[in-house]
Amino acid sequence: MSRRPIIAGNWKMHNNRAQSEELVCGIRDAIKSIDKDLLPEVVVAPVFTSLDVVSKNICNCGCGRIQLAAQNCYYEAKGAFTGEVSIDMLKDFDTKFVIIGHSERRQIFSETDEMINKKAIAIIEAGLTPIICCGETLEQRELGVTDSHIASQIVKALENVKPSDVANVVIAYEPIWAIGTGKTCDSAEANRVIKVIRTTIAQIAGKDNAEKVRILYGGSVKPETIKEQMAQSDIDGALVGGASLKVDSFVEIIKGAMK
Ligand code: 13P
Repeated sequence: MSRRPIIAGNWKMHNNRAQSEELVCGIRDAIKSIDKDLLPEVVVAPVFTSLDVVSKNICNCGCGRIQLAAQNCYYEAKGAFTGEVSIDMLKDFDTKFVIIGHSERRQIFSETDEMINKKAIAIIEAGLTPIICCGETLEQRELGVTDSHIASQIVKALENVKPSDVANVVIAYEPIWAIGTGKTCDSAEANRVIKVIRTTIAQIAGKDNAEKVRILYGGSVKPETIKEQMAQSDIDGALVGGASLKVDSFVEIIKGAMK
């Protein structure tokens, strides 16, 4: 089964409009002459207020090498939900992916598995692709409950999602202790946990669908780590934080994931 790799940059709460424009144009120009078929699917997730400017600069390129993601959404279509943004509103900018369940949203903003499941269903119904994040804390890893915790997050996130739709979701395994710490998870261990995720998905949606799901690794991904990560059997790309904020390091990671 060949799954097209994804390299996604999660810009988190960085970059105003001008900085976002500079960054996306830098990435775009650096990869515009690379054969599209050799590239991974490149995705950038700016803050909501930069979706517009990033979208315009991706479209002006006309080459379809970069896709747009949002970092969050709300599952209701409209109404009295102060501060929230609906999926239809994200579609205004030709957003293709929405990151949900990031550990920062779970920990800082108290998002529950139930909310993440509602978001996943709404995103799929709207024709977009959720990038569903999961990951264990250091404490959970030391207690030996990593696999059961991750499996539970996946089962809950995908509850009532049709098996054929499960095949199209993207999962990001992001061990929380590896995020922003410089401590990358050992590639073989990341691959092992990702296999646990794939087995869990197979139990929910069947083996064929599970084989189609792209599962990314996230947590201190750097240009120096990507080749080894991509060489693993089940790692289908990366969700990159810090190293996605500089053109050079992000482009090096993209190149490290090329065919
Ligand atoms: P870092 O790459 O900065 O560790 O962040 C990972 C992450 O949280 C991406 O969503």
